[in-house]
Parts: sequence; C-alpha cells; structure tokens
Amino acid sequence: MTRSVALVTGAAGDIGRAIAARLADSHDLVVVVDIDLPAARSAAADLGSDDRFQALQCDVTDEASVAAMAKAAMALGSVRTLVNNAGAARAVSLHDTTSEIWRADNALNLEAAFLTFRALEEDLKKTQGSVINIASVNGLAVFGHPAYSAAKAGLIHLTRLIAVEYGKFGIRANAVAPGTVRTQAWEARAVANPQVFEDAKRWYALRRIATAADVANAVFFLAGDEAQAITGVCLPVDCGLTAGQTELAHTFSQSDHY
Ligand SMILES: NC(=O)c1ccc[n+]([C@@H]2O[C@H](COP(=O)([O-])OP(=O)(O)OC[C@H]3O[C@@H](n4cnc5c(N)ncnc54)[C@H](O)[C@@H]3O)[C@@H](O)[C@H]2O)c1
Repeated sequence: MTRSVALVTGAAGDIGRAIAARLADSHDLVVVVDIDLPAARSAAADLGSDDRFQALQCDVTDEASVAAMAKAAMALGSVRTLVNNAGAARAVSLHDTTSEIWRADNALNLEAAFLTFRALEEDLKKTQGSVINIASVNGLAVFGHPAYSAAKAGLIHLTRLIAVEYGKFGIRANAVAPGTVRTQAWEARAVANPQVFEDAKRWYALRRIATAADVANAVFFLAGDEAQAITGVCLPVDCGLTAGQTELAHTFSQSDHY
C-alpha cells in the first residue's frame, strides 16, 4: 500500500500550516511545500514527526521547480489531495499596479495552480483525488488589490475548468474563498493601522473574522469523503462578508433590525 499524500503549497505560512495540520487527520503524509525551505522545515518539524510531515522547497511560479517538487512528492506516496495555497497580493490599487506587479500576482495566484495541477495530474487520476484552490473574497467582489483579485477570480474559474474536464477521472476540484484572516500577510497593514482587524469586523455579518483553522476545516471537508458529490464550487469562509451588508440593508430598508 502506498501512502496517501496531501500536498499544501505555501504551507510555511499561517493558513497553509493550519491546512497541513488538519489534513494530517485524513492522510498518511502531508507535504509542506514552500519557497522558503528553512521556514517549511521548521513548520513541518513543529507539526509533527517526519513520517507524517515532509518539507519540500519549490517556487510554484517556476515550471522546472514545480516539476522537480512534484517528482519528489510522488516518490513519497500517492498524492490524493493538492491544496494550492501559496499566494500574496502586492499593489492595493489599479493606479499603483505596474505591469510587473500584474504579471507577478497572476503568476503566483493563478498560473502556479495550473502548473502544480498539471505536474501532479497522474497521481490525482490514480487516487481519484481532489484539488482545493485557496481563492479569496477578492475573487468574488472588489475589495482592493486588483491584480491579486483578477488572479483569484481566474483561480475560481480554473477550479471549474478542472472539475468539468477531469471529473471523468474521478478528480474533484473546489475552491475556498476566505475573507480576512489574521496572518503574517497582514503585518504591514496592522502596523499602519493597529485597529485594522477591529475596523474590518463591522463589515462581516458575524462581526468577527475567520481564523486559519476555519479555513483548514473547510479544506478538510472538501478533501474528504463527505464531499464526494461536490465539485466545481467555491465555498466562501468569510463570516458572511459576501452574503450582504447590514449597513446598506439598513439604508435601503430603513429597518432597525439591521
Ligand atoms: N490572510 C488573509 O486574510 C487571506 C484572505 C483570503 C485569502 N487568503 C489566501 O490564503 C493563502 C495563504 O495566505 P496567508 O495569509 O497564510 O499568507 P502567508 O503570507 O502567511 O503565507 C504564504 C506562504 O506562501 C509562500 N510563498 C510565497 N510565494 C511562493 C512561491 N512562489 N512558491 C511557493 N511558496 C510561496 C510564502 O513563503 C509563505 O510561507 C493565499 O493564497 C492568500 O491569498 C488569505
């Protein structure tokens, strides 16, 4: 019996690490992939023993690096779950977006998922596995970070493309769209405004923001047998942000129930 493997990109980061931890409950081995090898090694060591968590270095925007990483991962067992989690946003407005930023954000947040999927396709066919793409609420509506948002919207569509074309092999593809999650990616904004998370909460129906563990639980569900009939969807984990706005509902309805 070959070991069932889950592979998480950007797994040295806060959300990726939480996903890696959760997927260890349903896989023999979790491969912790990151561009930063020391950080990936330290995340893997913190998560557990090396027969459960293995670190691999990879720049997911580089095809040769992805091919080498995929080969190494497939030698460790059979990849049943691929989580495309590595991602980052650069410029906050379209006005500040250079062509380099546009291309870099698209390479990391969209094209990388295509490269990793194609590199691991054979194993995913063998295992009738699934792909989970970590998108964002920015892929569903405009909240700033244009190049990143366009790439995340593309990632949601790539999810459907995989679901429709590879469904005949038993491969499922789904996306998760987190709202604000407090991670290292927010460091600069939290320094600029220490109240940024408190300020954000008023826009969320639940008056709270999601945690990395909330995102990991959604990924765990979508990767598992209970989601066997679910493919091609994007599941927001956003505490109600994309469901609607209470302040606008109040203005429109003039009802104090909002
Ligand atoms: N934090 C949020 O509020 C939030 C909201 C919605 C979606 N997301 C998405 O969740 C995912 C994880 O975000 P996070 O907040 O944990 O970020 P993070 O910055 O904490 O972690 C990202 C990780 O990706 C790695 N990485 C960056 N470029 C890479 C590359 N080229 N190849 C391989 N690894 C690379 C980094 O080294 C880092 O460890 C991202 O896709 C992000 O867009 C985050």
